[in-house]
Amino acid sequence: MNATKQIAVQNTRKVERLIQGVATSDGAGVSLTRVLTGKLQHRLDPFLMLDAFGSDDPDDYIAGFPDHPHRGFETITYMLAGRMRHRDSAGHEGLLGDGGVQWMTAGRGVIHSEIPEQKDGVMEGFQLWLNLPAQNKMAEPWYRDFASADIPEYATVEGVTVRVIAGESNGVAGAVSRTVTEPLYLDIHLPAGTSFSTAIPATHNAFIYTYRGAAHVAGMQVDLQRMGILSNTAGADGVTVSATEPTQLILVAGKPLNEPIVQYGPFVMNTQEEIHQALEDFRSGSFASERSAA
Ligand code: CO
Repeated sequence: MNATKQIAVQNTRKVERLIQGVATSDGAGVSLTRVLTGKLQHRLDPFLMLDAFGSDDPDDYIAGFPDHPHRGFETITYMLAGRMRHRDSAGHEGLLGDGGVQWMTAGRGVIHSEIPEQKDGVMEGFQLWLNLPAQNKMAEPWYRDFASADIPEYATVEGVTVRVIAGESNGVAGAVSRTVTEPLYLDIHLPAGTSFSTAIPATHNAFIYTYRGAAHVAGMQVDLQRMGILSNTAGADGVTVSATEPTQLILVAGKPLNEPIVQYGPFVMNTQEEIHQALEDFRSGSFASERSAA
């Protein structure tokens, strides 16, 4: 890990709105907080969903997410703590552990399961859904696991550490890059009394979510377990985040697709007809095709 000189941000974005997540349950009964809900899909295009999970009570997570389908987007699971076993119909299998990332491009369809591989202890992390452009919604599924050590990381001279899951920050390329949506996904750890800046194109939609401490952006505080939607101020060249206490947050940004979003549960397409087709294909068993049944 190298100390990296930060590119100065001249004109930081501001916090346009603070969002408190909604407590919900998904899978076979996993307790989680839905931070980015359907109502924010257009404002935060290309991102469709963000779930935050964090509990030391096995009853909150032990049931996991048994077999379920996805089509038309990508799921990115970032595990802060805990172990989760993933299996899918394309023949992929992996164990996601502390600090690891699983990037799954559902494309035309996968059926997968995500099951905790622990009976006690803390399970904490995020699942982010990133939309696919219309032209790629029916692409072949793709999948990759990144162990914690495989996530590029850098530190600033002030001692801020940054894990670059996707995109590029201060000259450091992340684990994954995507050409159309250009996602930036950072996990930022700020010691007390430090600040951090990174460039974001003004037209990209962006948000932060504070999961330890409290973050400050242009005079606005983004409290623990709050999302701050960052304004798309014309001329803003990035964002500057600071902290008066030890603080950890994720920063997510991407280029909007500006295409119709039609969601039915785990299927996200552009038209109602494509949703009907997805349901038909799922019911007829064509998600787990011969090609990927290995
Ligand atoms: Co899933």
